[in-house]
Amino acid sequence: MPLRHLLTTDDLSLDEIDLILKRAAEFLTPTGLVHKSLDTLAGKRFVLAFYEASTRTRLSFESAIERMGANCVLFTEAGSSVEKGESLDETIRTIEAMGFDAMILRHAINGTHSHIAGWTSMSVINAGEGTMAHPTQALLDASTIRERFDRVEGVKVVIIGDLLHSRVARSTASVLSRLGADVGWCAPESLAPVGEISRLRRFDDARHAMQWADVVFLLRIQRERIVSDHVPDIDEYRRQYAVTSSLAADHSSVVIMHPGPVNIGVELDEALLNVPQCLVHRQVTHGVAVRMAVLELICR
Ligand code: CP
Repeated sequence: MPLRHLLTTDDLSLDEIDLILKRAAEFLTPTGLVHKSLDTLAGKRFVLAFYEASTRTRLSFESAIERMGANCVLFTEAGSSVEKGESLDETIRTIEAMGFDAMILRHAINGTHSHIAGWTSMSVINAGEGTMAHPTQALLDASTIRERFDRVEGVKVVIIGDLLHSRVARSTASVLSRLGADVGWCAPESLAPVGEISRLRRFDDARHAMQWADVVFLLRIQRERIVSDHVPDIDEYRRQYAVTSSLAADHSSVVIMHPGPVNIGVELDEALLNVPQCLVHRQVTHGVAVRMAVLELICR
């Protein structure tokens, strides 16, 4: 049965994840993306509804749609009738009435995506949901690891940073674990994960994580949390959890990943963005390829 919505990675069977990763690989070259547009989704109409800021997810979906020969329009909360008090449901009904096949939705409130998928005639593709889920990020992370190691199974990955608030951590840890990666985590007590991830292997600091891992996967420490109870002292956080240039040099075989946007000088030193062991920009390229594969699976 064809997939109608992509709300969480649990909507995908392992066979479907494998299909997406294999299809995405066909769109990639060693340094970029295959330079050829397709007409696979010609005639399809997509709406990108972004109630939260985004660079990577939004542009990569736009790029994927354009590369597949389909059309898309963008809705952002700012400048819309939401500012005049229009409700979420009424906005979505209004968008639906314009005849779109699928909505690619980012929203800060957990549960919004499944609520809308429960009644709309459009396919709903989750482009980031509160602290809950970011399924296409997880797929692009798996795709990037698979390319680097030629497999995901058995690859040792430690997720470091704000796991408590991270939708990426939830989705990426879940997909990597399902694909057989050995996933651990590292965070101060105030940002420790709850639920399934908390039962995985824990590391005290980034140095111990790098001694064990094949991949360290950093998460953004949000500026607003740095001055809060969560991270009272940025220097202390850096000493224990940042991947600095010297730490990376001591462990040069360990791959560095980050979903972006990177909080430069907090969780990662700027110079590391351009070293071969850092895949941050390659992840972005995989984001386009994986989203092409996802759109093809759901919307063809
Ligand atoms: N990784 C990610 O979701 O980035 P954006 O917020 O820029 O889309």
